[in-house]
Amino acid sequence: MTKINSAGILGTGYCLPEKRLTNFDLEKMVETSNDWILERTGISERRIAEKNQPTSYFAYRAAKMALENAKVKPEELDLIIVATITTDRIIPSTACTVQNMLGAKKAGAFDLTAACSGFVYGSVVASQFIETGAYDKVLVIGAETLSKFVNWKDRNTCVLFGDGAGAAVYGRVPEGCGMLGFDLGADGAGGDHLDIPGGGSLNPASHETVDEHLHTLHMDGKEVFRFSVKAMGETVLKSLQRANLTVDDINLLVPHQANIRILKSGSKRLALSMDKIYANLDKYGNTSAASIPIALAEAVEKGRIKKGDIIALSGFGAGLTWASCILKWTGEE
Ligand code: ACO
Repeated sequence: MTKINSAGILGTGYCLPEKRLTNFDLEKMVETSNDWILERTGISERRIAEKNQPTSYFAYRAAKMALENAKVKPEELDLIIVATITTDRIIPSTACTVQNMLGAKKAGAFDLTAACSGFVYGSVVASQFIETGAYDKVLVIGAETLSKFVNWKDRNTCVLFGDGAGAAVYGRVPEGCGMLGFDLGADGAGGDHLDIPGGGSLNPASHETVDEHLHTLHMDGKEVFRFSVKAMGETVLKSLQRANLTVDDINLLVPHQANIRILKSGSKRLALSMDKIYANLDKYGNTSAASIPIALAEAVEKGRIKKGDIIALSGFGAGLTWASCILKWTGEE
């Protein structure tokens, strides 16, 4: 591909529900314990949306913050991509809802389904439009309200997930900065390991699908764990290779926040120390497509990312999918 421009992040933002659900709260809801959850996942609490707060509620607020930090007006946006598996409605897309909320009249808008890898998939799509010169400003949002799709009687899954949104505005950056390399992957053969089986054309909604809990998330935790520990590191190595860089060049890895044991195993496999891997899953749990942009925006806010830093993003999740990219940070002006 002929690259006319370099594409990078101009600003980031995030939004989380106020309501906290702690492990101790969960002890009263299912047969579990704070010790088990903390030891097996690293999660202490997660944020939960109110009934009247759909995914777009958080997506819009994260987007506003990202646009302000990027000093970009909604009317300047050419495209809005919302990575989500918990869209407000089956149609229209949550991206169209957010486009209307922002008043981003010029922007095209679509949702992207790649589960926990969705934000990185979206970032790669955004960078292609900018690198070819087709578009100037693309907003990528990762937003989820998984609490609305979890079976609150299933201890295997309900302790893991939380709600929230993160966003990034992509635009032109100086040559040699921004997106330096990426890797996208999928293995559809593993699709049954993690799914929400009801409500689509395979199992249209009916009394039976509700009775059988087909509208909530089902997961073979062990299979997904095995896949995740491998995927997290392997995809980063591929992106580094495409960027002509090595693990030693990474200043901060911002991975999908699924389980602290997955991050520690990734740290070992990559030979990258844990202090270079950003983790906030103790506070927010697994927020699927939102986890990487929330962590990224939080890391920027805390001063963990500086101009010139090499940042790796790594996502893995349902599909099965995986995705990573390497960004040379230009800073939020
Ligand atoms: N509290 C207490 N006990 C529990 C709980 C709980 N909340 N959940 C499960 N257990 C029990 C199980 O029933 C099992 O009991 P048994 O041996 O009597 O059957 C025992 O604990 C061990 O269960 P395992 O599944 O072996 O536990 P494991 O150590 O694998 O941890 C976990 C489970 C946390 C789900 C882990 O497998 C995991 O993190 N998997 C990956 C999840 C992930 O990364 N998802 C990413 C993608 S998410 C997306 O795309 C939307």
